[in-house]
Amino acid sequence: MVVLSPATAENWRDIARVRPLESQSEWVAEPTYYLCLSAYDGLWRSCAVRTEDGTTVGHVMWAVDPDDDSHWIGGLVIDAERQGEGLGRATVEALLTLWEREEPSLSGTEYREAALSVSAGNEVALGLYRSLGFIETGELSDDEIVLRRPRP
Ligand SMILES: CC(C)(COP(=O)(O)OP(=O)(O)OC[C@H]1O[C@@H](n2cnc3c(N)ncnc32)[C@H](O)[C@@H]1OP(=O)(O)O)[C@@H](O)C(=O)NCCC(=O)NCCS
Repeated sequence: MVVLSPATAENWRDIARVRPLESQSEWVAEPTYYLCLSAYDGLWRSCAVRTEDGTTVGHVMWAVDPDDDSHWIGGLVIDAERQGEGLGRATVEALLTLWEREEPSLSGTEYREAALSVSAGNEVALGLYRSLGFIETGELSDDEIVLRRPRP
């Protein structure tokens, strides 16, 4: 349902055009911020979320935590006009499948556990992650609730 394409010189403008709803901006940054983080921080990898016809509908990024080797999902944003179509769910599923199939060849680290953090009030995202098997651990990361999902 979705294709994840690493951010490149060719597609970054399409990713930068992705916008959450204004009411959601308290929970996520602009995709341009995530693109810069991926470009300069040396940890995260931004991807375009594309539908099968090639339209860019979102952004997601991932990283391996150097402290415990867990695979983190960050910066998930589906464009406001395309929310509620199953694209957010498909994006998380695509990332989990990518790690199951491709790791450790992508990052050099075996995939054992997925992790992410979410604001406590972000009920839609929390519901999505819980339904995919992510469980609250009691940890906090930058005031956000951490959820983890061991590799099945
Ligand atoms: C969270 C987000 C990525 C979900 O993406 P999406 O494509 O809209 O979600 P999906 O269509 O895949 O739906 C996922 C689940 O959420 C539910 N959902 C989606 N939008 C909803 C809404 N506005 N109200 C209530 N439930 C909603 C769906 O019913 C679905 O549940 P189901 O599969 O059990 O029916 C999207 O809302 C978004 O970009 N939000 C702003 C950024 C953000 O908060 N990112 C997460 C940071 S941790």
